[in-house]
Amino acid sequence: MSMHVRWLDERRREHYHKLAKKEGYRSRASFKIMQIDDHFNIFRRGNSIVDLGASPGGWLQVARERVGASGVVIGVDLKPIKPIKGVTTIVGDITDNNTVFELLNKLKGKADIVLSDMAPNVTGCYSIDHARSVYLCMSAVNICNLILKMNGQFVTKVFMGNMFNILMNRLKTHFQSVKIYSPDASRPTSSEVYIISKGFLPSITSDIKCIERPKNENEFYKRGDLL
Ligand SMILES: C[S@@+](CC[C@H](N)C(=O)[O-])C[C@H]1O[C@@H](n2cnc3c(N)ncnc32)[C@H](O)[C@@H]1O
Repeated sequence: MSMHVRWLDERRREHYHKLAKKEGYRSRASFKIMQIDDHFNIFRRGNSIVDLGASPGGWLQVARERVGASGVVIGVDLKPIKPIKGVTTIVGDITDNNTVFELLNKLKGKADIVLSDMAPNVTGCYSIDHARSVYLCMSAVNICNLILKMNGQFVTKVFMGNMFNILMNRLKTHFQSVKIYSPDASRPTSSEVYIISKGFLPSITSDIKCIERPKNENEFYKRGDLL
């Protein structure tokens, strides 16, 4: 990477960082979801939103503002999220069934939109980081199969790499429209892109089978609407 590109990259990061501070957002990532929403018209007043990998809460703040008081906003993360008025949070690993059960209990119905800005702990080894990022996306798709309304929307971050097409093909089996976008607030040198999927078509054979056998099985299968 040339010195000039690195300099531009840093300037952009610094710009959004300052802006987030000035406008009271918890992360510069807030501007990414605003730009995605401005471009793709994701949020509607009254929507139910589930944000996976939500800490420190920048996307939750934007979701809360854009769905209004009648909307429902739930954030999940490995790390605790400081309280945000009108937002429910869950601490847990989204690949763990117990977290999924907690989410199902708190959501009480289905979501209009699932967001995922999840990122694995980066190792510095590009292929490993990419594979882990795709795994998180696939896990988020499994969660969509449990909680997303018919015709719902899913926005996910992924680190680019050779498994990207596998993820795209999977998304195309579940959504009517799947588009790639790189918001201005993403650093140009970053390997991350966002995939905006609209028009959810729930799978006929549930992806519950892809998730480990739950401990409290009865509780899980009792909810016939999930299958
Ligand atoms: C880039 S940050 C999200 C920033 C957030 N969108 C915001 O605006 O503040 C990525 C988050 O993904 C979370 N994460 C990674 N793997 C996860 C997992 N398996 N379950 C839940 N959260 C996860 C990390 O803990 C981290 O907080």
